[in-house]
Amino acid sequence: MRVFIVGVGYVGLVTAACLAELGHEICGVDIDAEKIKKLKKGKCPIYEPGLEEIIKKNIKTGRLKFQVGIDKNINKYDMAMIAVGTPERESDGRADLFYVGETARQIAQNCRKKDFVVVGKSTVPIGTANQIRESLATYNSHKTTFHVGSNPETLREGNAVSDFMNPDRIIIGGDKKAQEALLKLYDKIDCPKIVTNARSAEMIKLASNFMLALRVSATNMLSRICDATGADIEAVMEGVGIDKRVGPHFLKAGIGYGGSCFPKDTKSIRAISDHHRLDTSIFDAVININTDQRKWFCQKVDEITLFTLKNKKIAVWGLAFKPNTDDTREAPAIDVVEWLLQEGAEVNVFDPVANVKKIFGNKVKHCRDMYEAVEKAEALLIITEWNQFKNADLKKVRKKMLVSKIVDGRNIFDPKVVKKLGFKYVSMGRP
Ligand code: UGA
Repeated sequence: MRVFIVGVGYVGLVTAACLAELGHEICGVDIDAEKIKKLKKGKCPIYEPGLEEIIKKNIKTGRLKFQVGIDKNINKYDMAMIAVGTPERESDGRADLFYVGETARQIAQNCRKKDFVVVGKSTVPIGTANQIRESLATYNSHKTTFHVGSNPETLREGNAVSDFMNPDRIIIGGDKKAQEALLKLYDKIDCPKIVTNARSAEMIKLASNFMLALRVSATNMLSRICDATGADIEAVMEGVGIDKRVGPHFLKAGIGYGGSCFPKDTKSIRAISDHHRLDTSIFDAVININTDQRKWFCQKVDEITLFTLKNKKIAVWGLAFKPNTDDTREAPAIDVVEWLLQEGAEVNVFDPVANVKKIFGNKVKHCRDMYEAVEKAEALLIITEWNQFKNADLKKVRKKMLVSKIVDGRNIFDPKVVKKLGFKYVSMGRP
């Protein structure tokens, strides 16, 4: 099929490259001319394992093209996917649909085909596909019959390419013609396909992210009870997760969730609930526990520190919100480092890919490797569970530090091993 994908941010770009890889003819469109210029040369603007290779390969085969802005070229395609940003509105946490609205209007004004399918790909509030349908009807300039669908993305950053090719399920919502077109588009992917109306498809995405965020917040709350009582959260969640009715995933305690999805989607579903005058307490609890988990971590740092953090050198390992990505949106490390600076500490930060300078400028020392970061440090804080941290030479770390103390926000080390090496070691919900 031929698909015109509007918005080549994270979601749109992965979708464009992977659909081209499956054999479809794709045009990725964006208003950011600089980004398109880079993409045309095969340069990937984000860090995502395996993505740049398939972009390069499919540009060569001619199946993947890029262009700036929506124009009459759309008429060479069978379907448009809307993958533009839906940032959070500051006023009430609801998603801002300005770009979705603009895209729908421009599609309607440029499309001259008899029939055309328009699919929402971005995560949006329930009912957005209907608004897209209305907008297409309002601006329809050439008597096109538009079919509207919803096909929310379910990719995890850092695993996006393999998630796209081997998903647990594909969610397909919309009217009959849109459903048929989407089934054809994903023909080569062998997995359950949930076919439903657009509102339910939109809701599945928000509900999935909420359920996962709920598990993370529930686990983190339980880890605080472990901290208070001397139980071990890892043993507890192993025992809980082995029950097939619960399952083992997303039960890892830590410093809380970040990124562009869980924080935004939990606030979005909370705002929808509030808008309909429904009880929001379960959403409030998930969000508040997550915010407080960062403070819980900082409290541990405070408690392990002698007298004060003022003028002490503190090493921070990890800035990205999780490993295998350079994404620092809503990253816990940002709040922690801001707090350290406020307390007067000198901060050394190392992350294998995230751009430390872009976030903190010269307020912190941007270290080239994990060992440089711990030089003369009085505590090491672990905030992202990159593999290289798990495999660190802790003897070397200890020699370089002035005071050997570790606060591990991701429980990456075995407490017994680290303590035996002479560290004072504190982690999340483990004695
Ligand atoms: C999440 C969903 O997993 C994807 O299915 C969805 O498509 C995506 O949001 C989206 O809406 O676009 P992502 O945000 O990339 O994907 O990251 P996850 O791997 O799901 O992790 C989310 C957060 O939860 C991270 O901050 C991670 O550190 C945290 N987490 C995860 C825990 O603290 N404990 C766990 O056990 C699992």
